[in-house]
Amino acid sequence: MTKIELTAFEQQLLEKVSHAAQRLKVPAYAIGGVVRDKILGRPVKDIDIVCVGDGIALAHETATAFKPKPKVNFFKTYGTAQIKLPSIELEFVGARQESYERGSRNPKVSTGTLEDDQNRRDFTINAMAISLNQEDFGRLIDPFDGLQDIKDKIIRTPLTPDQTFSDDPLRMMRAIRFATQLQFHIETHCFDSIKRQSERINIISKERIADELNKIMMSGKPSIGLDLLFRSGLLAHILPQLTALAGTEYVDNKGHKDNFYHTIQVVDNIARHTDNLWLRWAALLHDIGKAPTKKFEPGHGWTFHGHEVVSGRLVPKIFNNLRLPLNDRMQYVKKLIELHHRPVSLTKENITDSAIRRLLFDAGDDIDDLMTLCEADITSKNREKVVRYLENFELVRVRLKEVEEKDKIRNWQPPVSGEEIMETFGLSPSREVGTIKTAIREAILDGIIPNEHEAARQFMLEFAATLNIKPVA
Ligand code: CTP
Repeated sequence: MTKIELTAFEQQLLEKVSHAAQRLKVPAYAIGGVVRDKILGRPVKDIDIVCVGDGIALAHETATAFKPKPKVNFFKTYGTAQIKLPSIELEFVGARQESYERGSRNPKVSTGTLEDDQNRRDFTINAMAISLNQEDFGRLIDPFDGLQDIKDKIIRTPLTPDQTFSDDPLRMMRAIRFATQLQFHIETHCFDSIKRQSERINIISKERIADELNKIMMSGKPSIGLDLLFRSGLLAHILPQLTALAGTEYVDNKGHKDNFYHTIQVVDNIARHTDNLWLRWAALLHDIGKAPTKKFEPGHGWTFHGHEVVSGRLVPKIFNNLRLPLNDRMQYVKKLIELHHRPVSLTKENITDSAIRRLLFDAGDDIDDLMTLCEADITSKNREKVVRYLENFELVRVRLKEVEEKDKIRNWQPPVSGEEIMETFGLSPSREVGTIKTAIREAILDGIIPNEHEAARQFMLEFAATLNIKPVA
């Protein structure tokens, strides 16, 4: 009999559920992700409990074993209940049969046996259960050889893949997400089925799709999932702007790199340096403007003029479509993308302090993230080139630090405020105030005056005089 090793805490917790189940005389099991993660040695954040009976009643009975008694959240319509403990969550449900009508998002649910419940789960590695019953507490119940599939690193469905995916098409993305997180292989029939049914992803809510996409983006090597999404046909439905980057075109024997494969390598590169999801998104979308701006210029070759700006402009549309946040996080992604070529132009010789100040001003506190993005964008196969480019960026970082220490531009606030301008010249809010403010800012960025109040005030008076604007007495 295969037994799963539990920590003392998990053992105690599951014994409480077990005793509650005995009192109610319902068979109960820990099932799904918890079993998979215990076998894989991954941390467990929540435990799903399935019982052959009323899941809500079992949750209430279990809660009585804790002091103080925790709150039970339950959803009558779904027959599910949840107990949130400080370090772990317990989710309860009665065993059920579930099937989705074609074209519908809502499952038809009826009560079932443990076997029914295991049959309707997504993958063999997610369909294992641990008995919580007195006679065989801790026994692994594994009808589809999930344990072997974990050993062989295989993602496979318990029923035919067509049936499992048609029950819930989000599972196509889940297959790819698990393949990415666990670095498992999706069994061939299973992957073929995803290819055949990829279009059905369109019946799934954008929020659920984005959730899986974000999990792929947060994995150690997101390119695994991004490539599988592309090859399965799912990406064309989710993010067509990315698939538009795939492929190489040749004219007059001149080709350009495959910008899709370049992009996913950039995402892998950045994943080694940051866990910031949005910085990873900036890497994913940094070149999407290359498809609409691509041109072959005879005698010159392929160009993608202004692609940074076009890429940036596409960000709100993509975020809106995927129901990603449209707040400062979207603005951050957009800004980094729009600026991602600026540090490259600062790797040339004889760069003035003014150019450095302007980048500090435009990037503000996101300057370090911008440099991280630029470094990740180096995907040359030529090792020497990579080292040279990285050294160049290192020099830019040094210059940025020097200029910032001297001029404090990163969190720039105008040394002369709009109010001071209005008071000095007796102006009400108007275009003139804006013109004077901009002139002061430009003079500071160009290094004509230092970033200080006195110098800025003097400059303001002189500049206003050229516009025939005089200070009030
Ligand atoms: N499940 C399923 N089909 C889905 C979603 C979930 O069959 N579309 C089942 C699987 O058995 C899964 C369990 O429900 O193991 C719990 O799902 P969930 O909490 O979403 O995922 P986990 O497998 O626990 O993995 P993770 O926590 O990494 O999302």
